[in-house]
Amino acid sequence: MSFHSMAPRLTFVLLSACMIYTGNGYKPVVYMHGIFGSYKESAGFLKWIEEEHSSTETLSIDAYNNADSAVNLMQQIQDIAQILQAYMNSHPGGINLICYSQGGLICRGVLEHIQHNVDTFISLSSPQAGQFGDTQYLKYLFPHLLRDQVYRIAYSEEGQNISVSNYWNDPHHQDLYLKYSKYLAVLNNETFSPDSQKFKNNFTLLKRLVMLGGPDDGVITPWQSSHFGFYDKDLNIVEMKNQPWYTNDWFGLRTLDSRGGLVTKVIPGVQHNYWIRNHTVFMDHILPYLN
Ligand SMILES: *[C@@H]1O[C@H](CO)[C@@H](O)[C@H](O)[C@H]1NC(C)=O
Ligand SMILES: *[C@@H]1O[C@H](CO)[C@@H](O)[C@H](O)[C@H]1NC(C)=O
Ligand SMILES: *[C@@H]1O[C@H](CO)[C@@H](O)[C@H](O)[C@H]1NC(C)=O
Ligand SMILES: *[C@@H]1O[C@H](CO)[C@@H](O)[C@H](O)[C@H]1NC(C)=O
Repeated sequence: MSFHSMAPRLTFVLLSACMIYTGNGYKPVVYMHGIFGSYKESAGFLKWIEEEHSSTETLSIDAYNNADSAVNLMQQIQDIAQILQAYMNSHPGGINLICYSQGGLICRGVLEHIQHNVDTFISLSSPQAGQFGDTQYLKYLFPHLLRDQVYRIAYSEEGQNISVSNYWNDPHHQDLYLKYSKYLAVLNNETFSPDSQKFKNNFTLLKRLVMLGGPDDGVITPWQSSHFGFYDKDLNIVEMKNQPWYTNDWFGLRTLDSRGGLVTKVIPGVQHNYWIRNHTVFMDHILPYLN
């Protein structure tokens, strides 16, 4: 066989090898865990992705696991932003993010703080508009306090050292929330941040935000917080579209929406711990957005 007849075959073999190597065009997926969770919690979930979209690269962020997840979020996002930045630098074609519970607030913080290449951000039952409700986590962090008293600790300099305080949103103490919240109120530009335009520019680099949540969650309170809705002072729900940060487009949510980049999923029948463990949720509401 002459060299000339070999060459096309060799090229074909090399091309095929390249195609296998670079995979199938699915973007890498990065996962961020929730409070008192760890990078290990996503093992089964990431396996589902690999099964359906073979050879998708995945990374579960191994930082602030377990008890460390209660460290204040201002500190957490600095380290997590570095991990994400390094991963994005080595994946310049863009990545997808899946962030669960408190992890969704961490991911939003990172997306507002750095120039990123995240295509789709899936916010999996995350208290994006804050939390105001008793949960098992709350009892662990503030054992002797009832919901209506948490503000006394959360809204103080020392209290803001604990992650939950950073997004504790007491509708009866909004003055203190605005005064003390160093994280949620700043990300939302509710307390005017000199960086708000940068936050918005960075956030709107996102192509799509997919928000999953539902009425049977049992932990995120109100559950509508997973879709940026929240209580007013009478504990009635004000939907995202009537919230000031949306109407004023304070961090780019309305911009994203006007581009068709906002997907809201209300899914009944799913308790908080099952969002990453329910295969139907994965197949119907997550997989279709991973491309
Ligand atoms: C803040 O929390 C860290 C642990 O996360 C602790 O080491 C530090 O002493 C705390 N600081 C204050 C002012 O409470
Ligand atoms: C994103 O945030 C970084 C850090 O605050 C800032 O340097 C950069 O200018 C922002 N990007 C845009 C597009 O504004
Ligand atoms: C943030 O809020 C301040 C004060 O209300 C406003 O002047 C500024 O334009 C807002 N930032 C953005 C990005 O809308
Ligand atoms: C799983 O999700 C479906 C909705 O997709 C829901 O109807 C069902 O109750 C869920 N089951 C569990 C155990 O979470």
